[in-house]
Amino acid sequence: MDLFFSVPGLDCAVYGSDGQTQTGIRPPILNGPMHPRPLVALLDGRDCTVEMPILKDVATVAFCDAQSTQEIHEKVLNEAVAALLYHTITLSRDDLEKFKGLRIIVRIGSGFDNVDIKAAAELGIAVCNVPATSVEETADTSLCLILNLYRRVTWMHQALREGTRASSVEQIREVAGGAARIRGETLGIIGLGRVGQAVALRAKAFGFGVIFYDPYLPDGVERSLGLQRMATLQDLLIHSDCVSLHCSLNEHNHHLINDFTIKQMRQGAFLVNTSRGGLVDEKALAQALKEGRIRGAALDVHETEPFSFSTGPLKDAPNLICTPHTSWYSEQASVEAREEAAREVRRAITGRIPDSLKNCVNKEYLMAASQWPSMEAATVHPELNGATYRFPPGLINVAAAGGLAGAGAVVESLVTGTLAHGLTPVSHPPTPPPPIRPKPTETSRPTNSPPCRRQHIPSPLETNPPPNLHHRPAASDTAPPCRTSAAPV
Ligand SMILES: NC(=O)c1ccc[n+]([C@@H]2O[C@H](COP(=O)([O-])OP(=O)(O)OC[C@H]3O[C@@H](n4cnc5c(N)ncnc54)[C@H](O)[C@@H]3O)[C@@H](O)[C@H]2O)c1
Repeated sequence: MDLFFSVPGLDCAVYGSDGQTQTGIRPPILNGPMHPRPLVALLDGRDCTVEMPILKDVATVAFCDAQSTQEIHEKVLNEAVAALLYHTITLSRDDLEKFKGLRIIVRIGSGFDNVDIKAAAELGIAVCNVPATSVEETADTSLCLILNLYRRVTWMHQALREGTRASSVEQIREVAGGAARIRGETLGIIGLGRVGQAVALRAKAFGFGVIFYDPYLPDGVERSLGLQRMATLQDLLIHSDCVSLHCSLNEHNHHLINDFTIKQMRQGAFLVNTSRGGLVDEKALAQALKEGRIRGAALDVHETEPFSFSTGPLKDAPNLICTPHTSWYSEQASVEAREEAAREVRRAITGRIPDSLKNCVNKEYLMAASQWPSMEAATVHPELNGATYRFPPGLINVAAAGGLAGAGAVVESLVTGTLAHGLTPVSHPPTPPPPIRPKPTETSRPTNSPPCRRQHIPSPLETNPPPNLHHRPAASDTAPPCRTSAAPV
């Protein structure tokens, strides 16, 4: 895999996987002892034009366009201090361990289920997301899909394309059969976060009665938003004519919608998923669509992405609308997400990790795992303003080339990899202390009162599942932490 560098004032340089400069229109990399800027790499994309203006005075920006860590150039693995990524690449613990100097990963988007954030924290790597930029787009798309299921626009369009005539009332009944009135229907939202709330507000305007299930939200949110809260997933499923998924995918809710929970849904209900493919057992959904237990489903996200109608359990399922994980996209949202991601990297470089970060999603794990002493001035790169490089006891620090005279020989003998960049590789802690996780007790987590997310832990990614996920069959309790594969946001 080639590696491209965007260098301030110049174009890009291309390096072959052998590390040799290739001939072409691009100038060679200006990177080395005389250019001690930290290396920031976009892992799974090739356009850094939005990021460059934000980062060029504090970093060297490279892009890898990789689909897996095997395709990431060694230089990036050895030297990158910051990584930007979409959702195409997955970073497991093994992948994360390959990065020698990484201090921060920023997801250009909101979902971070493709990064093992706990392992990252244990390796001293902060993980951030950009949660705000696509909220409206995703909510609008969700409504678009919900309206499509009720009003059958997609299928009517398809029928016309296939030459169906619809002039007589009989023909109209035929082609529009199943189109239903929305007013008075109940929309059940699972996960009332940013997108879920935006969907709820929009759905009300169409005449839906809106109910929700989210065990992580504090009491009273239902009153603030004028919605009806369901105490359990089962309650929500029983009372909804259309179920829309807006919860984040985490290690506790893989296949939240499965054969068992589908049977708790109303006969002939609709299902919409713009959240994450791993939330729905597609095999069970396909069966329910074939049997008419679910009247129609609209999915923007899939268990395997990129999605194809020609493979997988949904290939011959009826009454299904699919889009290719594009709910998040608008030109504005795309640019804003990239700008915000670059700004987060900039905050990491010019401030302190994790204190200066705006959207660090593994902060608690990170704080618990990195019981490191305050940073010594000598370990701080002059351009980093005391931010990025902390070295836990026993770990070596390699100074920028030219710095720490005399220490270089010792250090170089200890560090694997080259020291071509000014900011040199940092070993990650071999066996970091486990993060301190709050242990819920019977009294702190009563069955009928969901835990308060603010008081408890901001992310649902902790060891204990919310109390009312017991509706899942036992098999899904043992399901491994889930990852969807290739998808943009
Ligand atoms: N398809 C797309 O293009 C697209 C775009 C943006 C976001 N998303 C996805 O949509 C989802 C929601 O995004 P958001 O920004 O609203 O996230 P958010 O973090 O603001 O909200 C998620 C909510 O889900 C709740 N939740 C977690 N587990 C739950 C469970 N088991 N049952 C019920 N509720 C649960 C959380 O408490 C939280 O309130 C994420 O998975 C995100 O990745 C998809």
